[in-house]
This record gives sequence, C-alpha cells and structure tokens, in this order.
Amino acid sequence: MEGIALRVRNLHKSFGGVHAIRDLSFDVAPGQVVGLIGPNGSGKSTTVNSLAGLFLATSGEIILDGVPIQTLPEHSRVALGLARTFQTASVFPEFTVRQQVRLASIVTLKSNPLASIFKLSVGHGDDAETEARIDEILRLTDLYQIADKLVSTISSGEQRFLMIATALAANPKVVLLDEPAAGLISHERKTLSEMIKKIRRRGVAVLVIEHHMALIMDVCDRIVVLNFGSKIAEGTPDEIRNNPAVIDAYLGEAI
Ligand SMILES: Nc1ncnc2c1ncn2[C@@H]1O[C@H](COP(=O)(O)OP(=O)(O)OP(=O)(O)O)[C@@H](O)[C@H]1O
Ligand SMILES: [Mg+2]
Repeated sequence: MEGIALRVRNLHKSFGGVHAIRDLSFDVAPGQVVGLIGPNGSGKSTTVNSLAGLFLATSGEIILDGVPIQTLPEHSRVALGLARTFQTASVFPEFTVRQQVRLASIVTLKSNPLASIFKLSVGHGDDAETEARIDEILRLTDLYQIADKLVSTISSGEQRFLMIATALAANPKVVLLDEPAAGLISHERKTLSEMIKKIRRRGVAVLVIEHHMALIMDVCDRIVVLNFGSKIAEGTPDEIRNNPAVIDAYLGEAI
C-alpha cells in the first residue's frame, strides 16, 4: 500500500432504492490533489460523507495509509489521519482564530467528547512546539495577521480558511475539502488555490469537491468525474476537459 494515502475500492452506497454511489474506485497519493466533480446529485457529497464516516458505505473498501477504515466511526478515522472540512462554516464564535486552531490541535473537534473539557484550558500556554506548529498552520492558511481576532468578527471567507486550518491542526495524512470555494470572492479563490498547493507540498493527500471549475483545473493533479453515482472518467485536467463523456454529462455547461 506504499505510496497511496487513500485507496477507495468498489465503494457502494445506497439509500433505500437509490444507488448514490456505485462501484467507485480511485486512489490519492501523498502530496497529490485529486478533484471529485460531477453534476448535481451525482454522488460527490455521499462519497465524502462515506469516506469521513458520517455514515457507513453499503459495501467496498476505504484504506487509509494501508489501514482499512470502512467500518470505523468518524472519530477513529480522524485519529488515523483523515480530516475534512464541511460545506458550511462551523467555528466557535467566542474564540480567537488562534484559540480555535489550538483547540483543534489539542483534541480532534467534533469527534471527541473531551473537547468540552479541554475548552476550559484553551488560552493557557502550551509547549513551544505546539505553538510553532499553530503559527505554521496560521501562515499557511493566510490567517496569521488576524490570529488574535475573535472568530465572530472575521469575514466569511476567513471563516472558510479557518476550517481548513482546523482540519490541518489534526495533522492529517488526507484532507477532504468539501466545496472550499463556495461563497469566496475572486481574490480569495486565488488565495485558496495557493493554500491547496502549499498543503500538497507538505505531503498531505487532498481530495477536493468543487463546482468552481477554474479552481479545480488549477489545483488538481487528477480529476475523478461522477455521473449518476458512477465514475465516468478519471484523468489530468486536460484529459477531463476534452473528454466527450464528461462534456455530455455536463450538457454544455462550461468545464
Ligand atoms: N440521506 C439521503 N437519503 C436519501 N437519498 C440521498 C441521501 N443523500 C443523498 N441522496 C441521494 O443520493 C444521490 C447523490 O446525492 P449527493 O448529495 O451525494 O450528490 P452531489 O453530487 O453531492 O450533488 P450536489 O452537487 O447537488 O451537492 C442523489 O440522488 C440524492 O438524492
Ligand atoms: Mg453535494
């Protein structure tokens, strides 16, 4: 399994009679950015939610750095190195930016019932190594200059970057980014592109779902295309742009 951070094999997910994903297989290597695209209802969110463990896949394998995780609960997957962001911002408004990233680096948010206990000690100094790592994450996500602002006072774009910082604080091998450009304005999308490239350079594997094609084409090494729950194409941005099946699936939408 060496060289593969995330291996997905023959993944199926059905909701009653609806086959939301069928026989989906793909890999993401360390330091690689893979895009997951497809028309509305094609199964992108279902794929990310199955990978993250929000619900269990109906069948198939999900292998994280050599370890099968498809039957594990969400918090165990995070602990093993799979972090995600959500489509909508989820942050603690009463914290500063730095406090939120620090909290995420101490405990794994959302998954650990001890989070509320650790919350009490947030704000007190941790060791220098932790602080250096937090600084690095804040710089990487373009939040360093606003690290001492309250989360409730930062812009919605900055809140989205904070979600990425929060995911990185868990020290993941694989990051799942769920529509990270949603609601961002043009210069913020450029910042996001640079951010994803920096994350890749750290050797993290990135799976990004996004409707914003210019961003996908800019950051991805490879793209997986879903339609009606099945993979219809996989390739480099250039291969995908010129693939007739992909153009058909999008029915004339600009790719
Ligand atoms: N919890 C659920 N219960 C029943 N059906 C679901 C559920 N979640 C998703 N589906 C169905 O599974 C299919 C795939 O949905 P999914 O949300 O994964 O698509 P998507 O590619 O993320 O679409 P969009 O681009 O609109 O976000 C759709 O037919 C959807 O109606
Ligand atoms: Mg979706």
